Amino acid sequence: MKFFIDTANLEEIKQANDLGILDGVTTNPSLMAKEGIAGESNIQQHYVNICNIVGGDVSAEVISTDYEGIIREGEVLAALHKNIVVKVPMIADGIRAIKYFSSKGIRTNCTLIFSPGQALLAAKAGATYISPFVGRLDDVSTSGVDLIAQIKAIFNNYTFDTQILAASVRHPMHVIDCAMIGADVMTGPLSAIMALAKHPLTDNGLEKFLADYAKLNS
Ligand code: G3P
Repeated sequence: MKFFIDTANLEEIKQANDLGILDGVTTNPSLMAKEGIAGESNIQQHYVNICNIVGGDVSAEVISTDYEGIIREGEVLAALHKNIVVKVPMIADGIRAIKYFSSKGIRTNCTLIFSPGQALLAAKAGATYISPFVGRLDDVSTSGVDLIAQIKAIFNNYTFDTQILAASVRHPMHVIDCAMIGADVMTGPLSAIMALAKHPLTDNGLEKFLADYAKLNS
């Protein structure tokens, strides 16, 4: 399972990258706004800064919702760095644009996926990644993890190259559940990644080992 961090915060990206387990970064306009990044050239420079920290794929989202606009924006974003993946919303013009990008060798991440049908459509258009939002489905009393399982079952029947990127992951159990299903990638906040390392028995065990050592070696 590839681990992406879902943030535009450079410090958090550095921290996750320093662990040695980071495979990429996903961003969205809300995450960019949270960091106060505004204006086309600042936004583009921020994507380049992210690409200079992490070795893997970096999703950069278009804000256009019409076919021509998505193509224009996506081509500019893709030219910024070889690791940029153009993030396109799941709308009819987005599907058309994904098909176009796919024919031009530009990699895409189809975002805002909330149903298996949307995932199937994006895969048929040639999306590199599809991003079903696990946490946001849970927020409306629908199992996000069940959607990952449905999409995995559908993709297992065919030979799509599209990777399932479990997005809107909020906590460690989302990561575990998605990994058990076989999602190719997960993206979540640094807190969800770091929480995977924690167990009270690990902390207690280490404390005892160090205390026993200190008894004879101090
Ligand atoms: O980047 C898309 C997705 O991961 C958003 O997550 O927590 O805002 O629902 P969240």
